[in-house]
Parts: sequence; structure tokens; C-alpha cells
Amino acid sequence: MLLTVGMWGLNCATSAYPTPPALKASIPMATLRSSSSPPPSLPINHRYHRIDSPFVSEVVEAVDSLYAEFKAVDNLVAHNTTRVLKAFQNARVGYHHFGGCTGYGHDEAGGREALDQAFAEIVGAESAIVRSQFFSGTHAITCALFAFLRPGDELLAVAGPPYDTLEEVIGKRDSHGMGSLNDFGVKYREVSLAKDGGLDWENLRTSLRPETKCALIQRSCGYSWRKSLSVYEIEKAIKIIKMQNPNCLVMVDNCYGEFVESIEPPMVGADLIAGSLIKNPGGTIAPCGGYVAGRERWVKAAAARLSAPGLGIDCGATPGDVMRSFFQGLFLSPQMVGETIKGTLLIAEVMASKGYKVQPLPRVPRHDTVQVILLLYVILAMTQYRLYSLETVSVSLLSVRLYKEAPQLVHMLNRWLEQLLDMHQR
Ligand SMILES: Cc1ncc(COP(=O)(O)O)c(C=O)c1O
Repeated sequence: MLLTVGMWGLNCATSAYPTPPALKASIPMATLRSSSSPPPSLPINHRYHRIDSPFVSEVVEAVDSLYAEFKAVDNLVAHNTTRVLKAFQNARVGYHHFGGCTGYGHDEAGGREALDQAFAEIVGAESAIVRSQFFSGTHAITCALFAFLRPGDELLAVAGPPYDTLEEVIGKRDSHGMGSLNDFGVKYREVSLAKDGGLDWENLRTSLRPETKCALIQRSCGYSWRKSLSVYEIEKAIKIIKMQNPNCLVMVDNCYGEFVESIEPPMVGADLIAGSLIKNPGGTIAPCGGYVAGRERWVKAAAARLSAPGLGIDCGATPGDVMRSFFQGLFLSPQMVGETIKGTLLIAEVMASKGYKVQPLPRVPRHDTVQVILLLYVILAMTQYRLYSLETVSVSLLSVRLYKEAPQLVHMLNRWLEQLLDMHQR
């Protein structure tokens, strides 16, 4: 019985909801959407309208009940797509920018500059560097941190522990002499999150020290059970930080946050933001890459860390079709993020109605593209196991991550479940 409940949860994470036989057999799409019968003047293609619904009834009901939320997402997509289009026009993006280049990358017909300019405008920054040479979000964030910090400085993470790949960058976890910030004499401190999983505003007000050179704000929850931050909350945090020391630089880990709202952190005072094109701003099309954006001086410093002092942003080949994918992905990104947000709303709605614990809660405004579901919640409650920490599982709906990572996730969970059952039976 335990396994049945567990497997139901696990299956739902990876595959479409199975169609129950009753639905498969008889209910046509038109019946499920009774309120949307077509106007009488239009000819009805009966073959099309008789396609079986691929969804179970819970999903159909959830979709219908989320009409207002989905409409708000459509408005957001329209708003953000307009911003992207405007920026593309201003950068005079054209077909000649899609060609790419080889070698040093000096003669690439202005594609890099156009992409950087458009990206900077979209996020409200002075400057941006968008490159295939950023391996990942972690790499882009690292370049931004190394741009700001020098020996003797302190880095202060204000939203609790940062995403775990940054532990070795910071030196929180031993990097074995590979050149972490700690290896270079940069100190590190954290302001823990408040009990509700959000920022601890009280502690933040007195948290800066004279040597605190950079405050790191992580916008998304990543894969942990905490709240993601709205841009409004980021603005409030920046004001509190700058009130204590106007020279303290603010770096926002923007991974999974791009286009989820109508504004971005540089518009509310972030000195730098960094993120990955394998997530939101790549629009599921960019094959690789990342970005740093913000104040020009610091973007240049991050670029020098990516390449070398003196080389900066003016070289670096992007061969083949990659430039075209970057422009195309950025153009599609608001739409892809919109679909993802709808997915998170739908999953939260259905899973919460089945008794699973979800974060964010159903129907609350989204601040990133991550929906966390405690798949084992029901099992834990039934078996009364008291684990030291409840492992959380997040399902990021951007297709790239879902397809690549979900099978591993399920494999891991299955193994964990087997161990739990073993322990239970012994
Ligand atoms: C909030 C956050 N920051 C940083 C990263 C690191 O990004 P990457 O996996 O591209 O290195 C992630 C990855 O999921 C993340 O969720």
C-alpha cells in the first residue's frame, strides 16, 4: 500500500497523467469544455473535436479553475515579449548577426554587441555580456563575484545558504586549493532565512560590516524548501543594504527568475545579475551559455574574469548556428517562461488537492520557474518516519531540465524508497 501511494507520486513527476479508461473510451474534448462550444457559423470538424482528452479529470478541472491566473500569465508574456521586441529593434538585430565566427572572434559582424545591447536593455542594465563561453549559471555567478571581491573583503549571502554549487566557489566547502574566494582571502558570512522561509528583514538591517564588499541575493529557491524572492523584495533588501553602506555592491543570482515578472533586479538597483542560458533566457533553444549584466564597470570586470584582463568582451568566437539560437531563444523566452509558470500553477493545484505539500502554494504569484513538491510527504506521514531532514524534490518545468534530470531524480527516489521500505520491514 505504501509503495502504491509512493509510485503514484513518482510516476506523476515524469510522465503525463494517465488517462483513466472511462475518459479514454467516451468523453470527447468538446464535452470536457462544454462552455466553449464554437460559434454556429463555423463549420465543425467532428474528427478534431472527438479527440480523446489526454488529461485526467482533476487536471481538466484545475485548468478550468485557473482561468484568471492563466490570463494574468498571458498578459505578462505579452508585456515581456514587447520589451524583448523593442530591445531587438533598438539594437537593430538582423540576419547578418546570426552568422557566428571562428578564431579570435574579432570579425563576427556585430552579433555579440547586438545581443549584449538587447539583453542589457531587456533587464534594465547599463551593460551585459551574453556568451557561449559561460559554462553554466555557476560559472557566470563566479565571474561576477570575482569581479567584485578582493583579498580582505567579505561576501555576505543575505538569503540563507546559496545554491550548493557555489559552496566550492566561496570556499564554504573545501575546494582543495582550486582557487575559491576563501583561497584568495575573501571572507564569507550568511544571514539565515526567517522562519517563514523568506528574508530575515530584522537581521538584515544590522548585518553589514565595514569589510562587507558584496551582498549576494539568490532570487530563486533553487531546489530547496524556501521562498523565492519577488523583485519588490529584492528592491527592499537592496535599499536596506545600501542604507548601511552605499559602497556595498549587490549581486543577484538571477537563475530561474528571468521574465517571471515584468521587471528585473538591475531596474531596482542591483549592481550585477548573473544567470544561465540553459534556463529561462535561453528559451529552451540556446544550447549553452550564460550572462552577466549590470553596471558597465563591473560587467567589464566580470568579462575580464571570463577571458583575461585586457581581452575583456571584444573577442571570443561563437561558431556555427549558436548566435542565431541565442537571439531566437531570447525572443521566445517570455513565452516559454509563461508556459512554465502555467505548468507550475497547474501542478501545484493538482498535487495540493491530492494532499501533497507544495511550494509555492497553489495560486500564489510566482517569482521563479520552480515548483517544489514533497513527493514523499504522504509516505512519511503514513509510516511516521522521522527523518533528520525532509528531502525536497523540485520539478523545474523548463523542458531541458525536465527531460534531462527527471529520470535521474526518479531513479534516486526509487532507491531511497526501497531503502525506507527495507528498514521498515526489518
Ligand atoms: C538558484 C540557482 N542558482 C544557481 C544555479 C546554478 O546554475 P547552473 O546549474 O547552471 O550552474 C542553480 C541551478 O539550478 C539555481 O537553481
